[in-house]
Amino acid sequence: MNESNIQISSIVVKSVLPEQVDILYNIINDPDNLHHQTINDVSKLYLKKCLETQQDNHGFGYIDGDVRHHFIYKKKQVIGWVSLTTKSALSRRYELGYTTTKKHRGKGYTYKALRHFIATLFGVDNINRLEAIPYADNKKSINLLVRLGFKHEGLLRKHNYHDGEYVDCYMFSMLKEDLEETIASDDDIKMSWNK
Ligand SMILES: CC(C)(COP(=O)(O)OP(=O)(O)OC[C@H]1O[C@@H](n2cnc3c(N)ncnc32)[C@H](O)[C@@H]1OP(=O)(O)O)[C@@H](O)C(=O)NCCC(=O)NCCS
Repeated sequence: MNESNIQISSIVVKSVLPEQVDILYNIINDPDNLHHQTINDVSKLYLKKCLETQQDNHGFGYIDGDVRHHFIYKKKQVIGWVSLTTKSALSRRYELGYTTTKKHRGKGYTYKALRHFIATLFGVDNINRLEAIPYADNKKSINLLVRLGFKHEGLLRKHNYHDGEYVDCYMFSMLKEDLEETIASDDDIKMSWNK
């Protein structure tokens, strides 16, 4: 797996290193992030274990439920986080998660980072299906997924338990053929795909 260091002009996506656990912990536990997604275990101990495993196997999480963590950098500053969870290793089905620090939103950085991250995943690693499951009221995230070329598949009623209530989510997915459609018009992405 070669997505551990993806460079797009000044935006870079890199695997999180075990010694960066504090930064990861702070980004994930930011109340604004937790307001938009449900994460099962956000303890530092759990994150540390994830980062150690991720370093050991270099590639994907081979076990269902494995989570791999990445940072989005602008120049040398961490401005966001991208997670990749193995939903089914057998079916090569993964789930994407992401957040960008408030100060760096609305500038297209997340879009750029995710475009390249996704192109590399499909190009290098033979993923079959990539899912994203935003809360139904998370317009910013939904807009981003649509722009990235994800397909809306439907409403997942009361899918997540969050802040004392069940919330609806949407299922979005991307298959390799969806990405091929999207990259056809994007030279920048073609470069990443062909690497
Ligand atoms: C969802 C989230 C990641 C979006 O990140 P972002 O950095 O604002 O995304 P982008 O900057 O790429 O795009 C956001 C907007 O900026 C606009 N934009 C501004 N300048 C741009 C540029 N140069 N290039 C592309 N888009 C640009 C986009 O058109 C887009 O507008 P829209 O939302 O009306 O479609 C961010 O809001 C976030 O972190 N939210 C909290 C956590 C979260 O919800 N995570 C997702 C859980 S499913």
